[in-house]
Amino acid sequence: MSKTISLREVSGLIGITPQGLGKISNKEDSILKGNSRHFSPSTVRSILNDRGFTFPKKKVVFHCLKGGASKTTLAYNSAYRLSQFGAKVLLVDLDKQGNATQAFNLDNIDKCFVDVVTGASSIEETILNVGPHLDILPSTFRNARLEIELNNTNYNPKSFYSKLFGPIENDYDFIIFDLPPDLNRNTYLCTIYGDVICIPTNPDEFAVMGMKMTLESIDSIKEEFEDLNPETYIVWSKYDARETNSFHYITEFEKISNVNVMPVVIRSDSTFKNAQANKQSVFEVKKKSNAKEDVDILARELSGLREFFSPVGRA
Ligand SMILES: Nc1ncnc2c1ncn2[C@@H]1O[C@H](COP(=O)(O)OP(=O)(O)OP(=O)(O)O)[C@@H](O)[C@H]1O
Ligand SMILES: [Mg+2]
Repeated sequence: MSKTISLREVSGLIGITPQGLGKISNKEDSILKGNSRHFSPSTVRSILNDRGFTFPKKKVVFHCLKGGASKTTLAYNSAYRLSQFGAKVLLVDLDKQGNATQAFNLDNIDKCFVDVVTGASSIEETILNVGPHLDILPSTFRNARLEIELNNTNYNPKSFYSKLFGPIENDYDFIIFDLPPDLNRNTYLCTIYGDVICIPTNPDEFAVMGMKMTLESIDSIKEEFEDLNPETYIVWSKYDARETNSFHYITEFEKISNVNVMPVVIRSDSTFKNAQANKQSVFEVKKKSNAKEDVDILARELSGLREFFSPVGRA
């Protein structure tokens, strides 16, 4: 996993010209690929730090009752992009299908989240490194026992996940959760722990129904715990401008809803599926794509980079 990003991309990230960045950055810190200079995640991090930007600490949960809505796709691709920006990222796969784990080509996983819940394994020994600045807490079908184990456990819902993740929380800027398409104990506890809940939703009837039920479950958590108020965003995905209905769902929903909508619509793009089939993130695919463009904006938005380096927000 090479993980470097080009000088041109970093210059776009911080809003200066490539020539300007070329002048202020050390040549020794870059890696030459063909004719262009590239930076490692730790170099990008120090370029951002030098300009006054530090990553916030956030727990981001990709959650939607509707299956196939892009939870895994957006979770692992944005985790990858954030780590390229130099953030320290842990991706937590809580879905027994293990799709996010498979996207990193990990086989023969012997420990997963259920072992942390039962105490059979510590969280530290369950986490695997998959590249610079990027770790994963993998999943296997054994996580199918998670609900049974949680049923048999006495827990305080507000502190359960923070106790489990407490030992490693400070090692990361972002802990990104990929949830299964369920509303159950596991998704309930994870939502309580999250700071930001992203609800990927496709512009179609069934997906919108699933999104509304997910929103209701978040509302009921907010009612139960009045001091909890996670930022909640709808993230429209699989948008196809050729389908008139797609646009209709997005605009109609925005008229009636008081929920935040992520200011990027993830377009329908076969790059997602192809990259996944090759066990890659879309950023490892060489050619330009809508997939890369859209997830790049999502990652900048989640990290606050977009606001910080916008002409208005720039320090
Ligand atoms: N914007 C997109 N454009 C085209 N294909 C997409 C897009 N987003 C996701 N996909 C594809 O749709 C399929 C389902 O996506 P994904 O697995 O991310 O959904 P999910 O919400 O995690 O599903 P599940 O509920 O089963 O966990 C995958 O094959 C993925 O590559
Ligand atoms: Mg999934």
